Amino acid sequence: MKLGILISGRGSNMSAIIEAVQKGEIPKAEVAVVVSDKTSAQGLEKANARGIETVVVTRKGRSRDEHDAEIINELKRRGVELVCLAGYMRLLSVDFVRAFPDKIINIHPSLLPAFPGLDAQAQAIAYGVKISGCTVHFVDEHLDHGAIILQKAVEVSDSDTAESLSAKILEHEHAAYVEALKRIVSGNYEIVGRKVNLL
Ligand code: GRF
Repeated sequence: MKLGILISGRGSNMSAIIEAVQKGEIPKAEVAVVVSDKTSAQGLEKANARGIETVVVTRKGRSRDEHDAEIINELKRRGVELVCLAGYMRLLSVDFVRAFPDKIINIHPSLLPAFPGLDAQAQAIAYGVKISGCTVHFVDEHLDHGAIILQKAVEVSDSDTAESLSAKILEHEHAAYVEALKRIVSGNYEIVGRKVNLL
């Protein structure tokens, strides 16, 4: 199964996915391309260093639909079947979601449905929760909303800041994303309404 990874920045989840695929930990998966909407994304160099093709598709003042259409085209012409959002900071258009039905996955640094949107770790600290974590989920037309594939919990200590909590959660994100991809690529799951059953 050909994967396409979308990034906007650092790319640590992207690196974890590429490394797992290259080590054969996600059988039958291949990373076909990494697409960034930002020329400055640090992840681009990391992907190139691992021999993965990269493409930059900047917004260039275009509408969301036009921008997304170009990205869809880059993915489709390389035969991408599963799209992995890994720190991709733009909302996808409805057309994008429909171009890959139930085949777009995202990771979010909170236990959804708590704290969707930006700065989820800072939101968790401000709210005072004692447990947070990360969520790997399918992407639907709403922000951080699609069916949940898996979650990992992390304890929040009294001394945690948004930065320290982000670091703690990130350690779990990499393993969670790889574990979720193993399940999804193997096809051993079913989606029943909002529920993903791992078989
Ligand atoms: C991660 O915290 C991820 O959960 C969120 O954006 C961050 C991306 O980090 N969606 P990286 O680019 O994968 O290092």
